Order: sequence, then structure tokens, then C-alpha cells
Amino acid sequence: MKWTGTPMIISYISIAVLLVIAVCITVLATHHSKRKVINDVNQTDARTIQDNIKSENIKNYLRIFSKEPHLSGTDANKNVAYAIASAWMEAGLEDVHMLPYEVLLSYPDFENPNSVVIQNSAGEETFRSKGVSPVIIPDEQSGKYAGHQWLAYAGNGTVSAEIVYINHGTADDFKNLKLMGVDVKGKIALMRYGYGFRGDKVYKAQQAGAVGAILFSDPWDVAQDGVDADHVYPKTIWMPNESVQRGSLMHGHGDPLTPYYPSKKELYKGTTIKEAYDDGTLPSIPVLPVSYTTAFQLMKRISGREAPSDWQGTVGGNLTYKVGPGFVNGEKLTINVHSELKTKRIQNVIGYIRGSEEPDRYVMLGNHFDAWVYGSVDPNSGTAALAEVARAMMQTINETHWRPARTIVFNAWDAEEFGLIGSTEFVEEFVDILQKRAVVYINMDCIQGNSSLHVETVPTLEHVAIEASKRVPNPSQEEKSRGRNTVYDTWINVFPDKEVGHPKIRVPGGGSDHAPFLNFAGVPVINFKYKNYTAYSTYPLYHTMYETPFLNIHLMDTDDLAVHRAIGQYWAELAVTFADETVLPINTTNLASVMINSYLPQLKESILGMNVSRSDLDSILEQYTLLSESAQDLLTAAIRFQNTRQYDDTNHVQAVNERLISSERCFINPRGVSKHNPSARHVLFSVSDSDAYSNSLMAGVQNAMDSYETSPSIENLREVINQISIVQYSVICVINTLGDAI
Ligand SMILES: *[C@@H]1O[C@H](CO)[C@@H](O)[C@H](O)[C@H]1NC(C)=O
Ligand SMILES: *[C@@H]1O[C@H](CO)[C@@H](O)[C@H](O)[C@H]1NC(C)=O
Ligand SMILES: *[C@@H]1O[C@H](CO)[C@@H](O)[C@H](O)[C@H]1NC(C)=O
Ligand SMILES: *[C@@H]1O[C@H](CO)[C@@H](O)[C@H](O)[C@H]1NC(C)=O
Ligand SMILES: *[C@@H]1O[C@H](CO)[C@@H](O)[C@H](O)[C@H]1NC(C)=O
Ligand SMILES: *[C@@H]1O[C@H](CO)[C@@H](O)[C@H](O)[C@H]1NC(C)=O
Ligand SMILES: *[C@@H]1O[C@H](CO)[C@@H](O)[C@H](O)[C@H]1NC(C)=O
Ligand SMILES: *[C@@H]1O[C@H](CO)[C@@H](O)[C@H](O)[C@H]1NC(C)=O
Ligand SMILES: *[C@@H]1O[C@H](CO)[C@@H](O)[C@H](O)[C@H]1NC(C)=O
Repeated sequence: MKWTGTPMIISYISIAVLLVIAVCITVLATHHSKRKVINDVNQTDARTIQDNIKSENIKNYLRIFSKEPHLSGTDANKNVAYAIASAWMEAGLEDVHMLPYEVLLSYPDFENPNSVVIQNSAGEETFRSKGVSPVIIPDEQSGKYAGHQWLAYAGNGTVSAEIVYINHGTADDFKNLKLMGVDVKGKIALMRYGYGFRGDKVYKAQQAGAVGAILFSDPWDVAQDGVDADHVYPKTIWMPNESVQRGSLMHGHGDPLTPYYPSKKELYKGTTIKEAYDDGTLPSIPVLPVSYTTAFQLMKRISGREAPSDWQGTVGGNLTYKVGPGFVNGEKLTINVHSELKTKRIQNVIGYIRGSEEPDRYVMLGNHFDAWVYGSVDPNSGTAALAEVARAMMQTINETHWRPARTIVFNAWDAEEFGLIGSTEFVEEFVDILQKRAVVYINMDCIQGNSSLHVETVPTLEHVAIEASKRVPNPSQEEKSRGRNTVYDTWINVFPDKEVGHPKIRVPGGGSDHAPFLNFAGVPVINFKYKNYTAYSTYPLYHTMYETPFLNIHLMDTDDLAVHRAIGQYWAELAVTFADETVLPINTTNLASVMINSYLPQLKESILGMNVSRSDLDSILEQYTLLSESAQDLLTAAIRFQNTRQYDDTNHVQAVNERLISSERCFINPRGVSKHNPSARHVLFSVSDSDAYSNSLMAGVQNAMDSYETSPSIENLREVINQISIVQYSVICVINTLGDAI
């Protein structure tokens, strides 16, 4: 609503009138139409929804959503947004609409591919990379510019410099290179993918003085059975020889020009592009991705000492990697990167199934839809599954008496690939509403393999995530023939946590759209996927042009998309549980117990590992002890709450649920926990400064400890203690929230 300048007195009168009406309605509501208590999940209905989820429909949606390359900010991606909206509307979702933002994106020069050029001492070109991957399946991959190899937000320009090889570009790798006596200053940094977010590698290289960077995928990771045609795509899931991983280099989340606030057209942008460069949010050096074939051309020429054994890989078969600097026989390296920043309109799509009992409680499901190229795996395996969840729920509503008690909200995010932009702007715009109404946000980005379910969530939701998986049939015939009939049975077998006797569940990191919900708004999240049983962090064809339906259907999920279907079923099962359970399945007892048994011992270990004087250590430990005592109090309060909460009538149930939801928000520190990432506000789970993909517990404490170790001043010591105290304050907030009186 727009402010129209109504005189104050009229406003007061209207407010008074509204109050009288509100009181009457409340009185009427409590005395005459006392609502029934929400019934628990009706398992027959839940089963029907699962049965209504069909592979055939997922396949159709997948083909529609991943037909063209649909980079955020392009017309093709706008068409995908409309295709999602029309699928949802056709199924019968309510109030389907777009939520637009104007954000800073980055594009290459599609007419002018990036290149790596090598010249000999006579100035003759001895190698030039193509900068474009070849089409392998023409029916699916012939879209214009699909093969273009580039990285978003790379600096624009041409640089010639000596090369240095820095392994994965982790903090340790930079430290070790320094110990080897090799300086990165003024050099082009060659780094391989893996062990961290690519934007962090480039950030570190730039900080170390690099003037350019090249990223490649090592066959050691992405072509483990060999690089010959029989062992790579399209015969297998492994990466073929001219392929590259695309991606964003932004260091941080959301539109770089509007931290904290939504980038609405009518609002001012608080940060300038220059400031975004100066604070390292955007890299200023040119960067490009190359195939392992091109990496071989570089590697075989690098001079200097041999790289350590754990820096070796399988580029060029048995080639020995060296660290440089520079090439043997005086050859010269140049990289040409064409890159441009553009302000673009993006749009999230939102749609509802309104709850019959508590329409103001939101159970939120989401996935992004923008892709680097066709995105049939990342993200449209999820987009297709989500559309089918919506359709199957609406079919169930149409054909039975079921309707969720709480509202289920469907979200399709734009510009996730550039840095979680669509979801971050959304959370920034609606943070107050979300903090009041959102029960949970459940994210599924993409299928990464077909071995097992894999879940990341917060301690309060571990039990519900596990129980739901026991009600989803196993998509694998092979697993079923071994007696593992549910998704849970395979999950506990593949990823067991021996200590606690249930599947291994970590706290979500920053790699997808759940991050702003948890870290900025304090809404608890579940982020799940299907993946291979090995530790390899993602799938070999991640962010390549070969993510087209052939990969989903013929290589990754060959039994009629059974895994895609199971993903939809698990998503639906979770949604129904949160929508229909009388008392919200939020387990504060488990939070207390995980804090006491895991987080606090880890914190103590970090404290004891600090290089600190005895007296300073004592003052830190003193606060730590007080925090431990509060955690014990939390355990007592949570158990008491669990045992004495009453849910024999609506008012009591709502009071119980209200407290459960509010207790999650206690961990949001409005002042933030990280200087570098304004959306990091969760004192327990916010994403660490050093790797945007993973997470560190109690990042505020960790950051303060790092500052203290770099500069052990009294101010920095006090900040460590203060940050521990802020965690404790949040714990006390939960105790108070669960209690009856202040
Ligand atoms: C559960 O749903 C089924 C089908 O809609 C219905 O027949 C049954 O009565 C419901 N059960 C309960 C306990 O409400
Ligand atoms: C990129 O750099 C080239 C020179 O290397 C220049 O011609 C071009 O205008 C620059 N583009 C942008 C968008 O700054
Ligand atoms: C890359 O793979 C293609 C297809 O198998 C093959 O024709 C080509 O020779 C390979 N190129 C290199 C440099 O190995
Ligand atoms: C290493 O590779 C070269 C060139 O491909 C080959 O000639 C040589 O036999 C290989 N050596 C080993 C030990 O595999
Ligand atoms: C459910 O019913 C509505 C209204 O008749 C219809 O528009 C919609 O297509 C139906 N949805 C499904 C999935 O059957
Ligand atoms: C899982 O990965 C391993 C090695 O990374 C590979 O050998 C295997 O084929 C993969 N299995 C599945 C089911 O994807
Ligand atoms: C599972 O994935 C592997 C590749 O990782 C593939 O070889 C296998 O055929 C897939 N199985 C099914 C049933 O989809
Ligand atoms: C809540 O967590 C506690 C501690 O881990 C556990 O004992 C209990 O069974 C959980 N409750 C539910 C309902 O899952
Ligand atoms: C520990 O700190 C002292 C004093 O600040 C410093 O001299 C010493 O080098 C540090 N030791 C380590 C292992 O960092």
C-alpha cells in the first residue's frame, strides 16, 4: 500500500474503529465458532499424495524447463519463469505471481570467447584455447552460445604474466606455496576446482597479489575411469575432454549493491560498484575456466619445483605437476577475458496452497530455476520435481477431502547461480513476515547422484527429517532386492553416523537458497538432495553444457526417473508433516543435547588451541563455563516444555507452536556475525568467512578468535568473550521463550 498523506486524526479514528471491530471478531470467534484442533497427519492422504507423483510428469516438466540455455536476466530465463508459473496455475495453485528485483549480474562477450594464449620467445603463438565446448548431443545442445566458457563477475581485460600453480587455492595451499618460496604477486594463479567455493579461491589469489586466475577440473576428480571416449560423457557421467565448470565468483550473497535491503526498483542502492570491488565482494582480476585438455597445455610447460604429492592430479596422465613460476623455455602466457556488469530484472515465482486451519503459517518449499546453460540437473531436476509436488497435491485436494491445515508456499528462485540473489532479496524484503509466519523452509537444488538421500538440517529438525524418510519407498530396485525398502534404509546404510545411531546430518552450509532463510531470518531449514556414496562433493558434469535431459534420463537416473520421483515424494512428505502435525515437529530438546554433546566440546577445543596467555585463556574459559551452564538450563527447560505442554485445545496448541517458532529466532543477532557477509546473522550456524560452501559453528566467536590471534590486543580478547556471551544470550532467549513468564 502506498502512503497517501491522510491527516493524522482520521488515522486515529480509523484505528479506533478497527480495534472495536477486531475485539468483536475475537470475542465472536472465541465464543461462537471455536475452531477444531488441527488433526495430525492423515497417513492415507499423505500416501495418496506420494502415489500421485509421477515420473512421466517430471520428465515433461524437465524437458520444458531445460529446453534452452536460460541464464538469469535473459529472455530465455524469463520464459522459464512463465513456464513454471503456468504449470503451477494449471495445477491449481493460488495467487501465482512474480516478484521482480533489479540486480547487478555479469555476462561474457558471447561473440568473443575468452582465451588462453601461449607465445614462444619469437612472439609466435604456440597454443590458443577455443573457449567454447563442443556440442555432443545436437538435439539437446545446439542452443546459441551454449558452449561458451566463462565465469560470472570475472574482471574484464587481458593480462600477460608468469603462471603459478596453487593446487585447490585453499588458505593452506597459499601458505604452503609461500613456504616453497614462490610468490603469487604479479602472477596468473592456476587452481583446480574442489575443496571450497571457486569465489574464495579467486578472492585469496587476488589478495595474494595475483593479476589473473585460471580454474580447471582435474580428471582425478571428474574423469576417474580415464579420459578416453569410452570412459567419459556421453558414455558415462564423467567429464569429457573439452568441458568446463562455469560459475559465479561473487564473494557474498545477494545483490552486491544492496546488502541488507531488497533491490527493488524504487529503492536506493546503498553500495556502489566501486565499493563492491574495494571490499572484495567482486573480483577485479580476469578469471576464466579451462578444460583439462587446455590445463595440460599449461601444466606441461610449467617450470620450477615439483608440486607436493597431494597437489598432483591426472592431467596429461602421468605428467608431474610443477608450481612455477613461469614456463620452461621462456614462453609467455596471456589470458583474454571479456566480461561486463549489467543491471537486470530478475523474477522469483511464488504460489500457494492455502491452509484450511492456519493460513498464516507458511510451510515453504523452494528451488531455483536459473541455470548456467540448460541446467537439467542443476537446478531443473529440482524445478521439475517441485512442479510435480504442486500438481500431485492439487490433484489430491481435488480428489479427496484433504487440504493442508497450514499454508504451503511454493517458491522458484531466480539468479541463484550468481550468488543466491533471488532468494536473498526475497528474504530481505519479507524478513519480518517470514519471522512471524514461516514454520520451515525446505530446499532441494538438484539431484547429484543416485545412491542415497542426503540431508542437511538444524538440530531441531533432525528427527522429523529422519522420520519422513522412513515413509518414502526406495527408488532403487537393487536396494529393495537387498531388503532396504525405504529411502531411510539406504540412507542409514550409506551415510551412517555411528555415534548417534542415525544417518549423518550436518548443518546446512551456504551453497543454495536455504542460506538466507537460516542465516538472515532464523527460519529453520532442511536442504536435501540425492547423491553418490563417495565423498566427492558434486557430480562431474556440474555447471557444464552437458546438463541436458539425456544426462538425467540415460545416465544418472535410468530407472524411469525413479530418483527424481523419490525426491518429490520426500519433499511432499516433509511438507505434509509440517502442514498437518498438531504440534510443530521442532525439537528444542535435541538442540540442547547437540549443543552440550557436540558444539560446546568443539568450541572448547578451539579455545584451548588458541595461542594465548594463561590469564587471557582463563577469562575466556570463564565465559565458556557460563555458556555451558546455560546450555544445561536449556536442556532442563526444553524437557519440561515437552512434558508439560498441553494440546487439548486450539489456544494451547497455538501457544505451544508460537513458542516453538519464536525460539528459533532467538539465534539471530541483528548486528550480524561477520564483517564480510551482511546476511550472516545466525550466531550458531552462519556461513564462515573463509568458505562460502561450508559453514563454521558460531562464526562470530570464530571470527573474533581469528582476529585475536592475528592481533592479541585487549579489545580483541574482550570481543572473543563478548561473542561467547552473545551465544549464551541466545540460549537464554530460548529458555525464556519456552517458559510461561518473564
Ligand atoms: C484419512 O483420510 C482418508 C481418505 O481421505 C479418510 O477415509 C479417513 O477417514 C481419514 N482418517 C482420519 C482419521 O481422519
Ligand atoms: C573490457 O576491456 C576491453 C579492453 O581489454 C575494453 O575494450 C572493453 O571496453 C572492456 N569492456 C568493459 C565492459 O569494460
Ligand atoms: C577429445 O575427445 C574427442 C571425442 O572423444 C576426441 O575426438 C578428441 O581427440 C579428444 N581430444 C583430445 C585433445 O584428447
Ligand atoms: C607417461 O606418459 C608418456 C606419454 O604419454 C608415455 O610415453 C610413458 O610411457 C608414460 N609413463 C608411464 C610410467 O606410464
Ligand atoms: C484441480 O481442480 C482445479 C479446479 O477444477 C483445476 O483447475 C486443476 O487443474 C485441478 N488440478 C489437478 C492437478 O487436477
Ligand atoms: C560414485 O562415485 C564413484 C567414485 O567417485 C564411482 O566409482 C561410482 O561409479 C559412482 N557411483 C554412482 C552410483 O554414481
Ligand atoms: C546410477 O548412476 C550411475 C552413475 O553414477 C549409473 O552408472 C547407473 O546406471 C545409475 N543407476 C540408476 C538405476 O539410475
Ligand atoms: C527430541 O530430541 C531428543 C534428544 O535427542 C530425543 O530423545 C527425542 O526422542 C526427540 N523427540 C522427538 C519427538 O523426536
Ligand atoms: C604465540 O604468540 C606469541 C606472542 O604473541 C608469539 O611470539 C608466538 O610466535 C606465537 N606462537 C605461535 C605458535 O604462533
